[in-house]
Amino acid sequence: MEQTVTFDLDLIQRYNKAGPRYTSYPTAVEFNENFTAESYQQQVDLSNQRGGPLSLYFHLPFCDTVCFYCACNKIITKNRQHAVPYLKNLHKEIALQAALFDSKRIVEQLHWGGGTPTFINHQQMRELMAVTRQHFTLADDDNGEFSIEIDPREADEKTIALLREIGFNRISLGVQDFNPVVQKAVNRIQSETETLAVVDAARANNFRSISLDLIYGLPHQTPRSFSQTLDKVIHSANPDRLSIFNYAHMPERFKAQRQMNKDELPTPEVKLEILHQSIDQLTGAGYVYIGMDHFAKPDDELAVAQHNGKLYRNFQGYSTRSDCDLIGLGVTSIGRIADSYSQNQRTLDDYANSLKHNELAIYQGINLNADDKIRRAVITQLICHFTLDIRTIEEELNINFATYFADAYPQLDQFSRDGLIRYDTNEIKVLASGQLLIRNICMALDFYSQQKAKHLFSSVI
Ligand SMILES: C[S@@+](CC[C@H](N)C(=O)[O-])C[C@H]1O[C@@H](n2cnc3c(N)ncnc32)[C@H](O)[C@@H]1O
Ligand code: SF4
Repeated sequence: MEQTVTFDLDLIQRYNKAGPRYTSYPTAVEFNENFTAESYQQQVDLSNQRGGPLSLYFHLPFCDTVCFYCACNKIITKNRQHAVPYLKNLHKEIALQAALFDSKRIVEQLHWGGGTPTFINHQQMRELMAVTRQHFTLADDDNGEFSIEIDPREADEKTIALLREIGFNRISLGVQDFNPVVQKAVNRIQSETETLAVVDAARANNFRSISLDLIYGLPHQTPRSFSQTLDKVIHSANPDRLSIFNYAHMPERFKAQRQMNKDELPTPEVKLEILHQSIDQLTGAGYVYIGMDHFAKPDDELAVAQHNGKLYRNFQGYSTRSDCDLIGLGVTSIGRIADSYSQNQRTLDDYANSLKHNELAIYQGINLNADDKIRRAVITQLICHFTLDIRTIEEELNINFATYFADAYPQLDQFSRDGLIRYDTNEIKVLASGQLLIRNICMALDFYSQQKAKHLFSSVI
């Protein structure tokens, strides 16, 4: 595949409309309450018949202080006691879920996300992993992908050593920006020293992959200031992977975002310039653009998997595992079991209430129909590999591509005229200019997005 991404400002501005990030297809806005615990059980039965490894996602929602930009599902509290009943319920949920699945199925992937997973104390971390191991069979360190999101303000060397000891082997760190002016404006003061101490500890403890999160589009950021942050990131932290997220400004949904001064946010033109320069700077430093905000060193397993046509996409972004059914645990968590997606209760009270009655905390979800499965396969292939082998997909899905996607062809023609893709009867190839606009290309093949109100999504770049 082509590793370089071309930056065409005209095209990006023309295509810069709202669009989903495709961590699932159908996306979470299609989930509905007709999907119940019984629907889930049916999908689990199907999943057990099919077999295969499992993936576990644990949501640990608490954060000590709010970062004004944050669009994550989090609960801000200084009271660490809130974790106690939450973890009790989580332990119960682990047991309930594990009882549904064939005990021979191996957990090859596990992730603690948040909020701030390390809000809980060391003893609670040990216990959570011990309860997980008591109910599920985890792969060994060489074969399992066990990752955690770390806020460096909430972890020190000892925490990192403990996390490695209990089984984590991949780590991602929230950084966002090293610039003190930006940090003050977003209420996230985090020194370079504390960030680098966590990176060093992760290296010393042999974490297999270290990833950093940055955001562009925050108050006071300029191309120059962000380039300085990137320079420090590349030279001091030297991560295996980087996520450069586009700041999603949705103040009507996330109240804390209103605490930032709108006039201090970079204009769309400046944001595009920051993005352009970041891509140049990172590819110049030897990183590969994986797609949708993600970069990796060429020898990182994500880049290797992409090179070998074995990259997939899930709720954590890109992944090297395709076949794992995903069990979501904790408030708001999303699972993907057999031909369904499901989401847990969204408030602590509702979550606790379900578990009090020894019930799964499923709140909503969706059973995929035949069309969803076809479109999901096509969209995943394009997002992960920027190419679609039409003959292979026709065989796999038992369709005639041109007939099935006839409605999409006027848009594909337009993409082709604009130089975003090249296609014939055998292949759709996303060209360098189209890589940044992959969401738009996928939207042409997405049944739901054609009908959706645009304001539901953040803009694509
Ligand atoms: C759950 S947080 C990571 C863990 C930890 N809470 C932390 O902040 O370090 C996941 C990541 O989402 C990204 N993020 C949060 N809000 C965002 C927004 N409004 N737009 C873009 N990215 C955002 C940040 O880069 C953040 O590191
Ligand atoms: S960015 Fe991380 S630490 Fe900050 S509020 Fe969001 S989840 Fe919490």
